[in-house]
Amino acid sequence: MQKFYSLIVKEISKETSKAYSLSFDIPSNLGNLFTFKAGQFITIRCNIDGKEIRRCYSISSAPINNGTFQIIVKSVPNGIFSKYVEENLKAGDVLEVSEPEGNFCYEPTNEKLKTFVAIAAGSGITPIFSIIQSVLSFSNDQILLFYGNKNEEQTIFNKEIAKLTEDFGDRFKVIKFFTQEDIKGSHFGRINQKVILETLQNYDFSTIEKFYVCGPEDLIKNTTETFLSQSIKKENILHELFFSPQTLLQNKAVSSENAGKTIVKLILDGEEKTVIVDKNTLLLDSIVDAGFDIPYSCQNAICSTCLCVLTKGEVNIVKNEVLSDAEIEEGKIVVCQSYPVSDVIELNYDII
Ligand SMILES: Cc1cc2nc3c(=O)[nH]c(=O)nc-3n(C[C@H](O)[C@H](O)[C@H](O)COP(=O)(O)OP(=O)(O)OC[C@H]3O[C@@H](n4cnc5c(N)ncnc54)[C@H](O)[C@@H]3O)c2cc1C
Ligand code: FES
Repeated sequence: MQKFYSLIVKEISKETSKAYSLSFDIPSNLGNLFTFKAGQFITIRCNIDGKEIRRCYSISSAPINNGTFQIIVKSVPNGIFSKYVEENLKAGDVLEVSEPEGNFCYEPTNEKLKTFVAIAAGSGITPIFSIIQSVLSFSNDQILLFYGNKNEEQTIFNKEIAKLTEDFGDRFKVIKFFTQEDIKGSHFGRINQKVILETLQNYDFSTIEKFYVCGPEDLIKNTTETFLSQSIKKENILHELFFSPQTLLQNKAVSSENAGKTIVKLILDGEEKTVIVDKNTLLLDSIVDAGFDIPYSCQNAICSTCLCVLTKGEVNIVKNEVLSDAEIEEGKIVVCQSYPVSDVIELNYDII
């Protein structure tokens, strides 16, 4: 079961004109639960204007200082939570936070020396900054960062990254891209495949352990294609997507074609429950509206929090940015973007 814990916001500060840094104190009794791997994210549950919302945020600090962690919230136009952070949140306030999760992560090993390649655009630096600090602190490996931003002022962790390049110059290299400023020593424009490939020519691909990409959909798609074309194995290319335009129109079309009811059997934490849902409503929405406490966060098929195994019946997954073909074959489904199809379905959260 997804659980939320009350954490006190220790400090809130402006990282750039559009990004806020929030740090949390972890009480000692929650220390084990909030032990995280570099690159993981938490979910914040918050009631704003009488409506419960959930949002994911990558942890940007490294898992060095037990008892505290930091996230960065970047302003989004008309964004419900980011506006709340900007206008209302203050140090000492309490937020409901779930345990860290996610597979976009780095775990140090003591094997042969390795190289990591990271590609980040804008706020996509947050999980990658945690990974960079961890690679540099916990291993002798090297890491190469391609980092794209509009301008220097809006570059999250600009100073911290500059300091790391000074301190770890032989193991940490940054290639910067700016779309609004032509700065000497940086590339003008978006992160592009040509520069990435030219830079990587100086590296032995066989020593590159993992490629981490965090940014908009097209950056993830293009870089993944580039790496695959260089015979990099798919499992070594990890990506984290923060936002994907909602498929509201598509969902409307699908739901208008469906009619009738489905009996849903839920298996969660060893308990079995039954709920009857409409075939024209997304499964997650129906189950949550019926008062069942199932795990979820982004509601947009990008974070993996809502995954379960479909052990009986049929669903229509209308959007999926997280499951591989093999996982779909195994019966895994993204509950937040699936419609029930058969009259009876069974969802098992205990065998995921
Ligand atoms: C795994 C994961 C990790 C994440 N980590 C971070 C992080 O470290 N820092 C961070 O700032 N965000 C992060 N996000 C995104 C975050 O969860 C929220 O989506 C974001 O903060 C916007 O929330 P909001 O309530 O302010 O906006 P909403 O109220 O959700 O959205 C308002 C409007 O803006 C659009 N919108 C939402 N997000 C974006 C966007 N990124 N770009 C353009 N339009 C958008 C929406 O479609 C809507 O129209 C992460 C998301 C995921 C899935
Ligand atoms: S809630 Fe994020 S993938 Fe479903």
